[in-house]
Amino acid sequence: MNIGIIGSGGREHALCFKLQQSKIIDKIYCFPGNAGTNLIAKNIDIDVNNFENIKKISIEKKIDLIVVGPEQPLVNGIVDYFKNTDIKIFGPDKIASQLEGSKIFTKKLCKKYNIPTSKFEIFTDREKAINFLSNSNYPIVIKADGLAAGKGVYICNSKKESHEAVNEIFDGRFGKADCVLVEEFLKGEEMSYFIISDGETYKNFQTAQDHKRVGEGDTGKNTGGMGAYTPSRLINESLDKKINEKIIKPTLNGLKKLNSKYIGFLYVGLMIVSDEPFLIEFNVRMGDPECQTILPLINSDLGEIIISCCEKKLSTVKIEWSTKKSLCFVLCSKGYPDKYEKNVIIENLEKIKLTHNQFMFHAGTKFHENKFTAVGGRVLNIVTLSDDFKKCKNQALDIIKKIDWSKGFFRKDIGFKVIK
Ligand code: AMP
Ligand code: GLY
Repeated sequence: MNIGIIGSGGREHALCFKLQQSKIIDKIYCFPGNAGTNLIAKNIDIDVNNFENIKKISIEKKIDLIVVGPEQPLVNGIVDYFKNTDIKIFGPDKIASQLEGSKIFTKKLCKKYNIPTSKFEIFTDREKAINFLSNSNYPIVIKADGLAAGKGVYICNSKKESHEAVNEIFDGRFGKADCVLVEEFLKGEEMSYFIISDGETYKNFQTAQDHKRVGEGDTGKNTGGMGAYTPSRLINESLDKKINEKIIKPTLNGLKKLNSKYIGFLYVGLMIVSDEPFLIEFNVRMGDPECQTILPLINSDLGEIIISCCEKKLSTVKIEWSTKKSLCFVLCSKGYPDKYEKNVIIENLEKIKLTHNQFMFHAGTKFHENKFTAVGGRVLNIVTLSDDFKKCKNQALDIIKKIDWSKGFFRKDIGFKVIK
């Protein structure tokens, strides 16, 4: 069969790489992809939110299955759009995508089903929010309701900061705002937990630890993710059980009551406080860069796994995993997550030789006049598998040394919590 992958990041290159190994898949098209996906598939430059155009091209290219990487088209309802066509699509529908599209939707679901999460208040009135925050304890967390590309969250240490946050949100920094969410600050350690679901059953899809801040030692601004490792150091059998029983099952059952059966990857963002899981956020897709650390560990056919989900037959498939550790460094354009230079040539990429446990997934790259160029904030992902995280790190650093890109930078301390 032919497939289409929507998205252009490192996550989508990793999906493309793994799906290209599938014995049931012939041709792969990436909408729009990057310079890395174009080496193994065919890129088609297209707006990922123009569903009609995606459908037209999918029919033209005889695409049987679409795999959706990023959240925006899911939240906009791409799965519902394709439901009445002959083209299969892997991802949650519009109702379920509210888990990521609306933080308030998720908080209300948590309240209804007793799902552990931080205490919260929702304010539709600016003055009432400000009054509440004048009498609160700090730190406190303030969030815009909708998608904000990781930017709509404020961790406030003072009344002044919290008032600024409320004003920015109501002033429309993240689009028109009818309300703000104010949350208790949870002190613990974060973990990303993943599942894959066919609407009837689901399976665990590994854990990871992201590094969201731009600076070493988890300092500076929030980013999409500067690196990750799998598995998380926090996971154990009893915690795993709590996450499934207290968070995932009630959520999927709650969605069923809203007439939505969850199909796709689900990313459960957790704060672990004294071995107890608290939900921080859901994402209705794989994480980026977590996906890049997780997919190379699969020893099964990802194409078969995904098709089994579209056909509600996930229970008949066994997902085999490598027991190796996996670590990813994200190479970024200097200046990210703020302003950075675009169209900078990266030298030597084609000369790098990788072993079967080493991977280079592209993100913001283009192939222009016979050269790889950096066109985005997060540009390359170097992933290595090994028996221990230290070896992973050393291998990745050796690869990075060979890349000649003076306008790039990366966090050198990825995995610092698991590497002594
Ligand atoms: P989110 O976009 O909801 O994942 O939030 C971005 C980041 O803010 C998270 O990865 C956490 O590091 C932090 N964060 C969000 N909510 C809380 C909370 N209630 N307590 C502590 N940290 C939080
Ligand atoms: N790495 C965080 C995310 O994908 O949202």
